[in-house]
Amino acid sequence: MRRIAISVAASTMTLSLSACGALGVTGTSSEASPTRGNDITVGVLMPEKTNTRYEEFDYPIIKAKVASLTENKGKTVYANGEADPDKQADQMQQMIDDQVDVILLDAVDSHAIAETVQKAKDAGIPVIAYDRLAEGPIDAYVSFDNELVGEVQGRSIIEALGEKADTSDKIVMMNGSPTDPNAGQFKAGARSELDGKVTIAESFDTKGWSPEAAESNMAEALEKIGKDNIAAVYSANDAMAGGIIKALEDGGVTKLPPITGQDAELSAVQRIVAGDQYMSVYKPYPQEAEAAAEMAVAKIQGKGIQFDAPRLRQGGQPHHQGHLRPAGPGGGPDAGQHQVHGRRGRHLQGVRHLHERLQGGL
Ligand code: BGC
Repeated sequence: MRRIAISVAASTMTLSLSACGALGVTGTSSEASPTRGNDITVGVLMPEKTNTRYEEFDYPIIKAKVASLTENKGKTVYANGEADPDKQADQMQQMIDDQVDVILLDAVDSHAIAETVQKAKDAGIPVIAYDRLAEGPIDAYVSFDNELVGEVQGRSIIEALGEKADTSDKIVMMNGSPTDPNAGQFKAGARSELDGKVTIAESFDTKGWSPEAAESNMAEALEKIGKDNIAAVYSANDAMAGGIIKALEDGGVTKLPPITGQDAELSAVQRIVAGDQYMSVYKPYPQEAEAAAEMAVAKIQGKGIQFDAPRLRQGGQPHHQGHLRPAGPGGGPDAGQHQVHGRRGRHLQGVRHLHERLQGGL
């Protein structure tokens, strides 16, 4: 038991993030003559179901926060695009036709959805980009420091390989969907830690973040590199790590190499405990989800949104951007690392608490 507890503490990375700073909603500016009361409807569009975070955490937290901000009078309507850009565009169009008051959009394909974002704008419905930065005339954006997530993942591979790490070590990179700008940021962050220290032998952009696609890409890499020659696998998230592990096991790998992840999904935490996955990055969804709900309600009620965009590194220029960042001195990557090393045990508790809280209906 003790051995297992230690292995978890050593293997789960947590990004501790400061309060979003995304908003201090103001009630005194000239913008602040509330146009609406609490009887409002927030449309919420999430991108997929394979990854458990959206239906287990993001949406229920947003829903609960909208209710608490509106004395239970505000409603949320919800649709999940299931990794299909056309389906999501139809869902968004339906929300426009239904005249919801504001839309929170986590885009399946950030470029393809731009046209529909424009339609919402034309219909007078503000759109807030959630987690992934959608293109088109969005009104606000809330996300984590995605490049930092990639840095933490890349750094953990180097740590796992230890002092002997060098360019003879062959790494496979399983990146996220090319239609998700976050995937490029995770990759850039990881590459900033890996380049020059190890060899990226194979690198894939994974359609729709699909675990099945990750599994077949991993089988292909295994074929090319050889089952005994893979030093580590960079997996951009936990769901794909599951597919990667399956491909490695089916391919006859008996001693799994270090494999990264993200999201601290329950199944991934279990794999970490079992020693099959090396690490995961926990991003505190409640902060992001609650900030988004506050933004949405404030936007409808005619209040101003103040925001803090300290480390916008890539992407377009949204009108307002809330950017969740690491807590600690200076708020930079080292501060994140400090949190990771200093408080791992407590953060793992946090993950467990979150799962319990959601299971118990918040
Ligand atoms: C999110 C990750 C998630 C991935 C797949 C990214 O945009 O930031 O948390 O694992 O999409 O859904």
